[in-house]
Amino acid sequence: MTSNQYNQYYSPTILKEFNCPSYVIEHSKAVMLKATYLALNFKGNVDLDLVKAGAMLHDVGRSQTNGIEHAVIGAKILEDNGFPQEIVKIVERHIGAGITRNEAEIIGLPPRDYLPVTFEEKIVSHADNLIHGTSEVDLDFVIRKWKNKLGSDHPSIPRIIKLHHELTGE
Ligand SMILES: [Fe+2]
Repeated sequence: MTSNQYNQYYSPTILKEFNCPSYVIEHSKAVMLKATYLALNFKGNVDLDLVKAGAMLHDVGRSQTNGIEHAVIGAKILEDNGFPQEIVKIVERHIGAGITRNEAEIIGLPPRDYLPVTFEEKIVSHADNLIHGTSEVDLDFVIRKWKNKLGSDHPSIPRIIKLHHELTGE
């Protein structure tokens, strides 16, 4: 399969068809730009069309809820509508810097691993971290936000630092 198979999926029209509110669509466009930037500056081999499609659709579940389960719901929406598995997985694994099975159980998500595995999954989840609404933020901003929300010793903090380093070399 060629990477071109994904280019039909990075249109904001799809989000409109699934009734995403316009602020989600604007956020998703900003995440797509950031993900594209990360992908183009990444030394590993990445499918840019897949990154763009996953970034555009990552919050499709927010058509139904803004809760953390929007990732699971979004993945199900795409799965039910026959979208490629690679995009489904990007959506399912885009929360934070990933969620372990243990953490998922604690917060009431279906118990499985939601850690991003492929470079495309990692790039979309981190692009989303670095976009707040439609604005770009830096790693320090995100760490401060997560420490306030999750506690300063939450395992997500070292996880995002590692992810940022892997993707940007910083
Ligand atoms: Fe999201």
